Amino acid sequence: AAIGRGNYRHFMEKELHEHPVVIGDVLSRMIDPASRSVMLWDLPFDLATLPRATISACGSAFYAGLVGRVWLETIARLPTDADVASEFRYRAPPLPSEGLGLLVSQSGETADTLAALRYMQDEGQHVLSVVNVPESSMARESDAVLETLAGPEIGVASTKAFTAQLTVLACFALAAGRARGTLDAAREALLTQALMEVPGQAAEILSEETTAAIGRVAERIAEARDVLYLGRGSCFPVALEGALKLKEISYIHAEGYAAGEMKHGPIALIDRHVPVVAIAPSGPLFEKTASNLQEAAARGGQVIVFSDAAGAEKLKGIAAATVVLPTCDPFVAPILHTIAVQMLAYRVALLKGTDVDQPRNLAKSVTVE
Ligand code: G6P
Repeated sequence: AAIGRGNYRHFMEKELHEHPVVIGDVLSRMIDPASRSVMLWDLPFDLATLPRATISACGSAFYAGLVGRVWLETIARLPTDADVASEFRYRAPPLPSEGLGLLVSQSGETADTLAALRYMQDEGQHVLSVVNVPESSMARESDAVLETLAGPEIGVASTKAFTAQLTVLACFALAAGRARGTLDAAREALLTQALMEVPGQAAEILSEETTAAIGRVAERIAEARDVLYLGRGSCFPVALEGALKLKEISYIHAEGYAAGEMKHGPIALIDRHVPVVAIAPSGPLFEKTASNLQEAAARGGQVIVFSDAAGAEKLKGIAAATVVLPTCDPFVAPILHTIAVQMLAYRVALLKGTDVDQPRNLAKSVTVE
């Protein structure tokens, strides 16, 4: 049957509102709530002995992979590389034998990602794909598949498939951590608990109150010619995703930057006309990000803060506007912040009157090189 928009104005809006259910579905397949541990069905390789993981993908899926890299390195202490598939395949990097090749793709058909998969196979990697379409080429050609099962995504710009990818990668990193002895049961219970709270917190972000706050920020952004998104650690890829979404559907130029790298270039662009969107959850990197935001504010930049209540309170002296998100463990902050920046892009696009679901020049699935 054809998929409808229901009462939503766009498929993108409908799909944004599916975040809680989609994330909940992934968790119910991957986490045992009684033992608060990850359930990972048998993989045809041993997580404990992997020498390295190599992640490759395109577009938003690549940014999900970048968050996955942080999790695999910090939680499982697994050395991990990540590169966009169109570069990776021609760079043809040597890969260690019996390493892990990890592909991330909504469609499972993106030409460059499929070529990266085949290259990884030629290099003797165990190939694992995180895909949304179970019967796709990537799913068929992989040694193992972790399905996101987010349902069909009609909006060209990925939303729910992206957070489903993040949720799958988070669970995979926990399983890898347990197998490699870098994650004890108590910490696993704490982190799975944090994940299980995400669907409810996602629903809070989609509430009237928070979307209204995001809508007020959208009015500022819609006036801008250029927007800078800043984040650190696992939220640096969220800054990249926020900027990409804004470009894709509102046609406003935006750049995502590692907050600490701003002083090596983008700070030259900052004046009162350039909004600086800060992805700044509480956590070990908060103070560092805060000091970068001070630098932006001192140059007249309009700093727009996305944080939890505690972080928002600390930044209120420099924030031109603030969106308060639910308080969470830093582990899951990139998932929640993604929903907020995707909603921001959507609300800006509404103000701009662009074709949200079918942005000019873009295709849902890029099956030619
Ligand atoms: C296109 C879409 C993006 C998507 C990317 C990768 O550019 O517009 O939303 O992230 O392709 O697609 P894939 O199907 O491999 O995730």
